[in-house]
Amino acid sequence: MMEVQILQDRAAVAAQAAQIVAAQIAQKPDCVLGLPTGETPIGMYDDLAEQCAAGKLDFSRVTTFNLDEYYPIAPEHPQSYRYFMNKHLFTRVNIPMEHTHVPGGQGDVDEQCRAYEQAIAAAGGIDLQVLGIGRNGHIGFNEPNDAPDARTHRVTLTENTIEANSRFFDSPDDVPRHAVTMGLGTILDARKILLLATGAEKFDAVHKLLAGKVDLSCPASVLLRHENVTILCDRAAFEGV
Ligand code: F6R
Repeated sequence: MMEVQILQDRAAVAAQAAQIVAAQIAQKPDCVLGLPTGETPIGMYDDLAEQCAAGKLDFSRVTTFNLDEYYPIAPEHPQSYRYFMNKHLFTRVNIPMEHTHVPGGQGDVDEQCRAYEQAIAAAGGIDLQVLGIGRNGHIGFNEPNDAPDARTHRVTLTENTIEANSRFFDSPDDVPRHAVTMGLGTILDARKILLLATGAEKFDAVHKLLAGKVDLSCPASVLLRHENVTILCDRAAFEGV
């Protein structure tokens, strides 16, 4: 089942997303969250940090697994997704750092991918997976035509994604050419999925998804196979203006 909510703007999407995550934590204080990086979820992380500071939310028993990380990249690199998560969420809430997991950006990739899958399974699987969506419909770093049943693996980034992400680096040449990502199969194993889409540049990807047919040129469309998906869209992403 896919529920689509069209909200006024980015702020409304952030607030609603934070409310859904907070409800998950209230319902199961030791829940396992799957988390994205990127521009889209920043407002949600701000809201969650505020709720935690106000004593309304307790992350002390929560475990998190991030979707992806560049490869190669050091965790202390300001553009690494580990650095992003520490900055936007983990250091602002009362989650023990050892409960937070981000795929390794260094060392033996295959071994780390296996260990990541094992760690997710050992934690009991992901209760709520939050996702953003790329302009080309990617989720995590699963680019068009990746295998729909893939587990955590290394990917080669497309030019489209390198160009989109180069805004955060000094130059496009500095963007790593590879990444480690949960696979579409890993994502589909989550019990619930929450996808956030904001901004007119997501219009095409959102409408390919809402077209209601699994089409691997839009990786997010595999979510149609999942039974519990909520999509929060702002008007710009839904209307394209
Ligand atoms: C990042 C991730 C990506 C982003 C997507 C949208 O962890 O999973 O799939 O969600 O690239 O990025 P933004 O939010 O920057 O538009």
